[in-house]
Amino acid sequence: MKWKIATSGAVLAAALAAAPFAQAVEISYAEVMAHTCAGCHGPNGSSVGPAAPTIAGINPELFIEAMRDYRDGFRAGTIMPRIAKGYSDEEYKLMAEFFAKQPFKRYDQPHDAKLVERGKRLHDRYCEKCHENGGKASAEAGVLAGQWLPYLQYQMEDYLAGKREYKEKNMKNKLTEMLEKEGQEGLKAVLNFYASQK
Ligand code: HEC
Ligand code: HEC
Repeated sequence: MKWKIATSGAVLAAALAAAPFAQAVEISYAEVMAHTCAGCHGPNGSSVGPAAPTIAGINPELFIEAMRDYRDGFRAGTIMPRIAKGYSDEEYKLMAEFFAKQPFKRYDQPHDAKLVERGKRLHDRYCEKCHENGGKASAEAGVLAGQWLPYLQYQMEDYLAGKREYKEKNMKNKLTEMLEKEGQEGLKAVLNFYASQK
């Protein structure tokens, strides 16, 4: 198999030159890069287990911000700070466009069903304003509905410990307000509501 780099630079055309039945298979450069993420983030960004979050359907601006923040040390991570350093800003952009277009696949995951109803009520009161449609929307913030629960827990711990910056200061205010009124159990309920969604 031969790889030809098209003049646009963004498209790699793989051509089976010798085979008479050959058809040019076009794989975008973004897709080639995304394959290197699939071992952890799943095929096309929908993670099949709690070891890594689903990044399919992510708002492209948030994706780019996340990669820059990992690279520049503004966001804590176990593995992403190292991975983010391996790509350029231009490559972040191409991957952001690719992952934004992929559907967010939801899998059944363990959660505490007793907490879901309270979680939904608290979500509606404190979080729905930005995490619309029960946390399914990705317009302004990350998709929360169906995201892996352990990942959501780590992110909340990181926000609360100051290891992840709030880009949206009002989220900090709402979260603080909820914790004051509803306690840690309230936060747990909200996260279990997200984990319950299909
Ligand atoms: C070895 C496993 C692994 C690989 C490979 C990997 N990631 Fe990650 N990714 C993670 C984990 C784990 C997290 C949670 C943060 C952390 O612990 O570093 C994460 C978090 C992220 C986030 C933050 C998501 C959010 O909702 O804010 C983005 C974006 C991301 N990864 C993009 C990528 C891209 C793009 C690639 C491929 C170039 C990639 N990752 C490769 C494991 C991986
Ligand atoms: C004023 C808008 C706003 C409100 C209210 C808000 N958030 Fe957020 N949230 C955001 C934005 C924007 C992001 C994306 C990155 C950032 O700003 O840190 C985010 C990110 C998150 C993330 C990380 C997602 C990821 O993929 O890594 C979690 C978890 C989260 N919010 C939970 C909550 C919960 C729970 C509530 C309610 C108690 C809430 N948010 C209320 C705006 C908001």
